[in-house]
Amino acid sequence: MKVGIIGSGGREHAICQSIKSSNKTSEIFCFPGNAGTEQIAENIDLDLENFETIKNFIFDKKIDLMVVGPEKPLVNGLVDYLESFKIKVFGPNKVASQLEGSKIFTKQLCQKFKIPTAKFGIFENRKSAKRFLKKTTFPTVVKADNLASGKGVYICNKEIEAEIAIDEIFDGKFGKAKNLLIEEFLVGEEMSFFTIHDGNTFKSFDTAQDHKRVLEGDRGKNTGGMGAYSPSRLINKELESKIINRIINPTLKGLADLGTNYKGFLYTGLMIVNNEPFLIEYNVRMGDPECQTILPKLKTNLSDILLACCEGKLDQLKINWFDKKSLCIVVCSKGYPEDFNKDIEIQNLNQINLKEGEFLFHAGTIKRNEKIYAVGGRVLNFISLSEDFKLARTNIIQNLDKLDWLGGFYRKDIGYKVIDK
Ligand code: AMP
Ligand code: GLY
Repeated sequence: MKVGIIGSGGREHAICQSIKSSNKTSEIFCFPGNAGTEQIAENIDLDLENFETIKNFIFDKKIDLMVVGPEKPLVNGLVDYLESFKIKVFGPNKVASQLEGSKIFTKQLCQKFKIPTAKFGIFENRKSAKRFLKKTTFPTVVKADNLASGKGVYICNKEIEAEIAIDEIFDGKFGKAKNLLIEEFLVGEEMSFFTIHDGNTFKSFDTAQDHKRVLEGDRGKNTGGMGAYSPSRLINKELESKIINRIINPTLKGLADLGTNYKGFLYTGLMIVNNEPFLIEYNVRMGDPECQTILPKLKTNLSDILLACCEGKLDQLKINWFDKKSLCIVVCSKGYPEDFNKDIEIQNLNQINLKEGEFLFHAGTIKRNEKIYAVGGRVLNFISLSEDFKLARTNIIQNLDKLDWLGGFYRKDIGYKVIDK
């Protein structure tokens, strides 16, 4: 089977590696991939905005299965386009991708189906949004409606901060804004809950906790994710059935009412308050770095699972997992998430000899003249599977000491809530 993967992050390298391990996979193409995927697949540089070029390439190479990693092509309708040519593609369609593409779409669904979430208001202009601030309590949360690469959420401790957020959003910082959301600040512990769907049924796909803030102790600016561990310490059977019955099932019902269904990974971002789940956001894909953290625990072959989803046969497949703890530390370019230097060589990668249960997934890297350079904010992901989280973190930090890369930094405290209590 020939497989194509869209994306260039750690998530896509992890997906690529999992698919590669199947003896059914003959060839993998990554669009555009990174220096890590280049070792195990063919990297293809195409204009990802041009769906027709992608389709022509798929036909030309006779690719059997396409996997879409990031949200942007999903929200833009790549799946609908490719399916109209009878191409098998794993990922949700354009309407279902609104779950991530529009926060207001999701909030309105929550309202209709009484899905537990933070109380909220939708505001169509600055004046009404700012007027509302006079009667709200702080902290409060101001959110842009559309895709904003994780940057469109402002946690505001004072009225003036919320006013700045409102102005930035309506000034077009995240694209043209017709409206915005102001919502109640929930106090609890976050958890990422993953499911995989074939349009008819779905199965759990493990849980994780990521660390979004750039500095140790979960301080500083929000990032795409500095590290993660899986499973979350919060998950239990009772909580899982509350999440499925109160949040995921009504969401699928809402999509069915719109005449559509869900195929792909669904990432339910939750705030858990006293074992009660509240929906913070949906993402219509795997998380990054949660994907890198979870996939090494998967026993069942990923390509079999993804193919079963595209054929509506997920119910015929049992997904098995290794009973291990997994932890991932992300190495970033100095300066991230603000401006950072690009094209910095990463010298010591050949010093790292991964032991069993250890994985290294590339993100923002490129290979030139047999050398590896950092070209993105998040650069490398180090993962270790172990009997306990502390050992996993110790193993990773030993590898990071060998890397000793002066151009980068990482958080040494990933997993502190389950390790350093
Ligand atoms: P989002 O992009 O919606 O996941 O928001 C980014 C981060 O902001 C989340 O991971 C939470 O840490 C935080 N956040 C978003 N909404 C809320 C809320 N209503 N209450 C508390 N924290 C929130
Ligand atoms: N790690 C958070 C995300 O993928 O959105």
